[in-house]
Amino acid sequence: LIIKPENTAITTGVAKSALELEKRCRVVDKILDYGAGKLRNSKYLLSKGYNVSILDTKLQIEKQKQSDLELFGKIYTTEEFPAIEMYDAILCSFVINVIAEPFERVKVLNKAYELLKDNGLLFLEIRKGNGISQNKYNVPYSDGFLVGKNEIKTFQKPFNKNDIFLLFKNTKFAIIELKTCSDSLILIAQKLMEVNENEYGKIRVN
Ligand SMILES: C[S@@+](CC[C@H](N)C(=O)[O-])C[C@H]1O[C@@H](n2cnc3c(N)ncnc32)[C@H](O)[C@@H]1O
Repeated sequence: LIIKPENTAITTGVAKSALELEKRCRVVDKILDYGAGKLRNSKYLLSKGYNVSILDTKLQIEKQKQSDLELFGKIYTTEEFPAIEMYDAILCSFVINVIAEPFERVKVLNKAYELLKDNGLLFLEIRKGNGISQNKYNVPYSDGFLVGKNEIKTFQKPFNKNDIFLLFKNTKFAIIELKTCSDSLILIAQKLMEVNENEYGKIRVN
């Protein structure tokens, strides 16, 4: 069984979570695009003047054009990640739902937490159920579905609000907003230094 999360990336449009980030972040803020894929959101944010760094698997980074990669502050791979910089905001758009192992999703969130400055914001967008389970080539796998008719598959897990709350219970983030869009859920979470343990992963209305 070969699962290639890299194959889920698309080039068109801009994720709503990137627009949400733009609304809330100043142009001087340092942004990390976590699971940047084919760079559609990171290029958009660059065009708006942000200082953007990117992270994805080595395989995905190597597929991108050198001339594109040169535009970014730092380029990290999941395999080599000596990240020394801290970020004001992290965008993580349609990444969590392509990861088949539940503990790997928590690892991504914990890593994002580590990389944020105090009060830094995480903008997370996750695919909802629409269409994933109905496709005739999909078979149940882990807590989601393997997608694709060839031997190379991708994984998709449809998320609902409750799945997101359960996921964030295992993190230290405070959730400050959860929005439902047509195909996705957008969550904005903050690294608050004064959060008590019993508030981890809970909603805070600001
Ligand atoms: C559906 S694409 C989304 C790409 C981009 N964020 C966007 O919205 O266009 C998912 C991306 O997450 C990457 N990915 C999967 N697991 C990851 C992990 N553990 N850490 C970082 N990136 C990961 C994949 O390689 C792929 O590029």
